Amino acid sequence: MPTFMPHALIVDNDPVSSAALRDMLALQGYSSVIATSLKHGLQQVALQKPDLIFCELCLPDGSGSIFFQSIDPADAIKIILLTAQPSIESAVEALRSGAYDYLTKPISDKRLNNLVARLNSIESKMTSLDLFEVEHTLQRQQYHSAKILGNSAVMQTLYHHIDRVAPTEASVLLLGESGTGKELVAQTIHAQSLRHKHPFLPVNCGAISPQLIESEIFGHEKGSFTGADRQHKGYFERASGGTLFLDEVIEMPIELQVKLLRVLETGAFMRIGSNQQLETDVRIIAATNRDPEVAIAGGKLRLDLYHRLNVFPLKIPALRERVKDIELLAQYFLDEFNTAHATKKILSPKACAVLNSYHWPGNVRELRNFMQRAYILSDQVIEADMLEPSTSQQITSALTLAIPVGTSLADVDRKLIFATLELCGGVKKRAADVLGISLKTLYNRLEEYGPHEKFRAHGENMANSAIAKPLRLPGYDNSFLN
Ligand SMILES: Nc1ncnc2c1ncn2[C@@H]1O[C@H](COP(=O)(O)OP(=O)(O)OP(=O)(O)O)[C@@H](O)[C@H]1O
Ligand SMILES: [Mg+2]
Repeated sequence: MPTFMPHALIVDNDPVSSAALRDMLALQGYSSVIATSLKHGLQQVALQKPDLIFCELCLPDGSGSIFFQSIDPADAIKIILLTAQPSIESAVEALRSGAYDYLTKPISDKRLNNLVARLNSIESKMTSLDLFEVEHTLQRQQYHSAKILGNSAVMQTLYHHIDRVAPTEASVLLLGESGTGKELVAQTIHAQSLRHKHPFLPVNCGAISPQLIESEIFGHEKGSFTGADRQHKGYFERASGGTLFLDEVIEMPIELQVKLLRVLETGAFMRIGSNQQLETDVRIIAATNRDPEVAIAGGKLRLDLYHRLNVFPLKIPALRERVKDIELLAQYFLDEFNTAHATKKILSPKACAVLNSYHWPGNVRELRNFMQRAYILSDQVIEADMLEPSTSQQITSALTLAIPVGTSLADVDRKLIFATLELCGGVKKRAADVLGISLKTLYNRLEEYGPHEKFRAHGENMANSAIAKPLRLPGYDNSFLN
């Protein structure tokens, strides 16, 4: 029986790296040919169509990204970029254009073996192409209909992007306000990726104490610091083969961002208190509800780490940007509660109208919580007049704060903070998110202003601004959300 040997083309003018890669590929059963320039590489493609192209980005006669335009997508050749500087803009652009993966030089044989293993797992599924297609489509429908809900055009675009990026190895940066579904999207990308049988590990970078975060991420050896009474495996080790979800990544201490970047670039790390390099095989999905560019300007996020994470940015729309989905989501949550309690409660058309006209600063999370409370408090029908009498007028009010020229910046800060707190119904976490500051900063400011100031500012807000209030149900106290 004839044996099929997969073929690789290596386009790189670095002879040492090319020879090493050729040897590693030979061990994986690949034949390979080396080209030292773009021109030579394109000639080789014409001579023998490869299954894989490993291509250096910076070649003497141009950028390796030219292969993306020169190769017919129907040929299904996978392009893997080679780069010694993975954070440079061109690498980011090339990945966006459709590279299967990239490898940092010098190439680690573990990374290469993992890549080949993933390719083989695609190939074996492809032998039954129809079945694979059917399974994949079913899986997609399930995720989009049963988990991430929404039919609006912005959500359709989001689904399309998730489908495209999920099976690749690209890092994804999820941007969106609190409660828009970033974690849900991260889980979906993992579930639709080739890593889905391996762990999905979420790490809230804002919630771990700065003293512990390094040991949580990289692990530590027994005795490496006071209290380290046993060896501890960090997130990188525990997520091996899977996906690490770095939530609130901008909250990560800046010194740790340097270390994280190093790990992402080299694919290797060390536990605290150890000299032994451990190789990592994790895909990174990061998320933030802040504007990364503002965070970079404010020295909170390193530019080089941002470039490394921002290979494929995905913006999750706020609920008010997809008003069409509000009713669908509200109805879905109501159905969930009805099923769980064997009831048949319904939403009145007027209540739907109120839900549609509210601006939902806490997005889908706020809508779900609201529906749950409305469900509990209603008998058979959730009526609009169950909402506080003032709410329905206030929800359409303009979100403005009148500040006379001549006000000091410190005063503007103070007014804005209290007005935002007011807008968020006193929920400090939400107010901090809206203001784009950390919860800790918000607490510090409130402490600085003191109780008297708070009272004064509150009075001013009530008099000078027309600020929408969160939806409230009568007699319901949501201060526990603080
Ligand atoms: N499109 C959606 N369809 C169904 N449920 C959703 C959707 N978006 C969010 N949710 C639900 O809303 C809640 C909040 O979602 P999630 O935790 O993913 O938000 P987030 O953007 O990570 O928020 P935060 O920035 O506060 O961490 C979860 O219960 C989630 O299941
Ligand atoms: Mg989250």
